[in-house]
Amino acid sequence: MLETRDLTIRFGGHVAVNAVSCAFAPGTLTAIVGPNGAGKTTYFNLISGQLRASAGTVALGGRDLTGQSPSARTRAGLGRAFQLTNLFAGLTVLENVRLAVQATRAGAHRRGLNLWSIWGDHRALTERAQAILRTVSMLERSDTPVASLPHGDQRKLEVALLMALEPQVYMFDEPTAGMDHDEAPVILNLIRELKKDKTKIILLVEHKMDVVRELADRIIVLTNGTLVADGAPAEVIASPVVQEAYLGLTPQDASGGTYALPHPDLPPSGGRGEQP
Ligand SMILES: Nc1ncnc2c1ncn2[C@@H]1O[C@H](COP(=O)(O)OP(=O)(O)OP(=O)(O)O)[C@@H](O)[C@H]1O
Ligand SMILES: [Mg+2]
Repeated sequence: MLETRDLTIRFGGHVAVNAVSCAFAPGTLTAIVGPNGAGKTTYFNLISGQLRASAGTVALGGRDLTGQSPSARTRAGLGRAFQLTNLFAGLTVLENVRLAVQATRAGAHRRGLNLWSIWGDHRALTERAQAILRTVSMLERSDTPVASLPHGDQRKLEVALLMALEPQVYMFDEPTAGMDHDEAPVILNLIRELKKDKTKIILLVEHKMDVVRELADRIIVLTNGTLVADGAPAEVIASPVVQEAYLGLTPQDASGGTYALPHPDLPPSGGRGEQP
């Protein structure tokens, strides 16, 4: 169980995440939705340790992680997609994934300096890295330096690195944003595959309601940093608070880049003023 209790962060006077208490069970994919600026990414950052909470706690499997560094949390099983700035841009795709695999495996150094053993490790690590790259349809990119990857491939690589960590908790923040139409299904298939492992906890921030509807076992809604709805997808999507949160968006919000306006997927709002 992953649990946040009264998790809060203030930036100056602004409360970006406001006393969010929520527990996430293994075998469950929870979608986190809400308007732009609602605090979804900030909530992730508080869980992964990229940001320090002003108040409240984060615990995984009963272990309090609130004071821990991001890397300690990764070792505890929290998997946050890598930012590309964490990659070795001059190394190839395969080398980066292999390093991530290596970081999670007990290496040769634990068994002493045995060259055969090191060579065997190297081969096993490479095979594992290649298997991961195959699952994100990037095997043919193995020898490409990370720095010269197109955007869609960079996003897929982030997911590959997350897979390499084999975390207990997978956190995806708009994993298909900026991807081409033929690339997004690769990531969505992968999340479908991950869902089959009932020991995993999956958190997905996603604006596309058709994706949420298909993948989520549960939806929580953040608005202005506050958890305002939590429940089964159909019920949450139909709830007044979600209708309000989404239909309250202005056209300016909707035109700001990658935001996919969810109106078309939502049931009729019963007369709230919609833009023509
Ligand atoms: N490091 C920071 N310093 C100051 N304010 C911040 C910081 N990070 C986030 N915020 C503010 O916190 C609020 C929540 O932002 P956040 O990025 O978490 O929203 P979001 O729900 O992920 O939005 P989006 O759907 O656009 O990705 C915003 O008002 C944002 O400006
Ligand atoms: Mg965000």
